[in-house]
Amino acid sequence: TRTPIVILNFKTYLESTGKRALELAKISGEVAEETGINVVVSPQHADVWQIAKEVEIPVFAQHVDPVDAGGHTGSILMESMMEAGASGTLINHSEQRMKLADIDAVVKKVKANDMVSVVCTNNVETSAAAATLKPNFVAIEPPELIGSGIPVSKAEPEVVEGTVDVIHQINPDVKVLCGAGISAGEDMRAALDLGAEGVLLASGIILADDPKAALLDLVSKI
Ligand code: G3P
Repeated sequence: TRTPIVILNFKTYLESTGKRALELAKISGEVAEETGINVVVSPQHADVWQIAKEVEIPVFAQHVDPVDAGGHTGSILMESMMEAGASGTLINHSEQRMKLADIDAVVKKVKANDMVSVVCTNNVETSAAAATLKPNFVAIEPPELIGSGIPVSKAEPEVVEGTVDVIHQINPDVKVLCGAGISAGEDMRAALDLGAEGVLLASGIILADDPKAALLDLVSKI
């Protein structure tokens, strides 16, 4: 059996910014160590360097721009994230959507540099399109459930199952994650039962009174 994966997207919550981002990353590292689950943190770009220096678990960027080194003021250069210590990146998050050609360019560049690519998608059709680009992961997140507290694995299980099916047909090497509204152990259990390899989540942990307890609950039914 494979070890499930939890990617904690810090987004731009104040609770997961700056010093509090480092705290949350340390807590995530403790949970990874105590449970043996693969926990990955995805902080804001400005926090990547310090977090990658201080925790052992993988750190992913939340986004990189489809640009090469040179004159692109204000852009996020993949090489900069690599040097800061990121070992992967989210791509095309619902809150940071990209053009198909740009997703393709970023996936190729990330792969060429041995980093991990996680392409986020909003439905079964875009999941199929994403799988043809051969990222390491496709993360299906129905936008209407993001931040809702209503778990995708319960509210729209057919979207997760449909994504798993279609990706299995297109490229079985691509692993599927699901996200949106996931917070409890039973939500993660349901995601795994639907064929996902893990979850991508944010508010259920970041905004919890006790994020460590919330993370431990998340992985309690694996
Ligand atoms: O990337 C994870 C995310 O979009 C899901 O957000 O707050 O519903 O866990 P949330």
